[in-house]
Formats: sequence, C-alpha cells, structure tokens
Amino acid sequence: MNLHQKVAEALNKQINNELHASYTYLAMAAYFEGQDLPGFASWFRGHSAEEGTHAMRIFDFIAKRGGRIELEGINKPQTDYASPVDVLEQSLAQEKTVTGQINALFELAHEVKEYSTQNMLNWFLAEQIEEEDLFSTILDKARAASDDRWNLLLLDKELAQRGEA
Ligand code: FEO
Repeated sequence: MNLHQKVAEALNKQINNELHASYTYLAMAAYFEGQDLPGFASWFRGHSAEEGTHAMRIFDFIAKRGGRIELEGINKPQTDYASPVDVLEQSLAQEKTVTGQINALFELAHEVKEYSTQNMLNWFLAEQIEEEDLFSTILDKARAASDDRWNLLLLDKELAQRGEA
C-alpha cells in the first residue's frame, strides 16, 4: 500500500524537526565549548548526532514505503544562552515539543489507518520517554550545581564519562 499522502507530508516535516533538534544541540555544544565545559559540549554533540539518526530513521521509512522525500531548510538555532541551566531547560522543553509532534503524527496515522507508520512511530514514542527522563535528570543536576564553577566542573566530568548521550 502506498504511503498516505498526508502522512508522507507530516513525516517529511518530522525529518526537518529532528534535524532542527540536531542543529540546536550542536549550537548548545558550541555554547559549552565557549564556557570551557568540554564534558557538556561532548554530551550535546553526541545528542546532536543522535537526532540525525532519528531523522534518518524516518527518511529510510519514507523511502521504503515508496514515498517522496522532500528536504526543507533548517532554521538557524538559538546560539546564545544565559547559563547551563538555561540550556538544559530549553533542551528539555524541546524534547517535550518533539514528544507532542510524535503524538500528533501517531494520531494522524491512526486516523488514516496507516498501520505500519504507527508501528514505526512506536519506537519514537518509547524513545521520547527515555529522552525526557534523561534531560530532566541532567537538568536537576545542573540546577543543583547552579552557578558554582566547582560543581559545574564536577558535572562536566560526569558528562564527559557518559560519552555520547
Ligand atoms: Fe529525536 Fe531527542 O528527539
């Protein structure tokens, strides 16, 4: 069965959303490089790469279903942040936005009886639970560290050891 047109359009939009998330996390990595917090920077760089894999999962799905892939421009991400806590608050908010986008996609796929799209999206629904949990854990730690340089360096070391998100 051909991929439903409306679903194909929404999936293309989600490729863009995931790439925008990837680009935003890269901007956050750049912010942390500027703050001399290389552990945070590498953690965000890893997460940026992970968002790229999310985009490609959808890209591959559209291709396999014989749909048309149409890439759009990626908006410029925010490049300046008030503090590490500000970055973590914004990244958690972004994950919540993505969860809303995946839920809306699932609802559309359900409406038009796109069963295999729903099956593909199940992976994303589970992933979003993990992502929100992960980001809120790091946000808690950043809040606890606050603006104290020594605490931030300790958290930076922990994030460096975690490696890729
Ligand atoms: Fe692809 Fe972090 O959501």
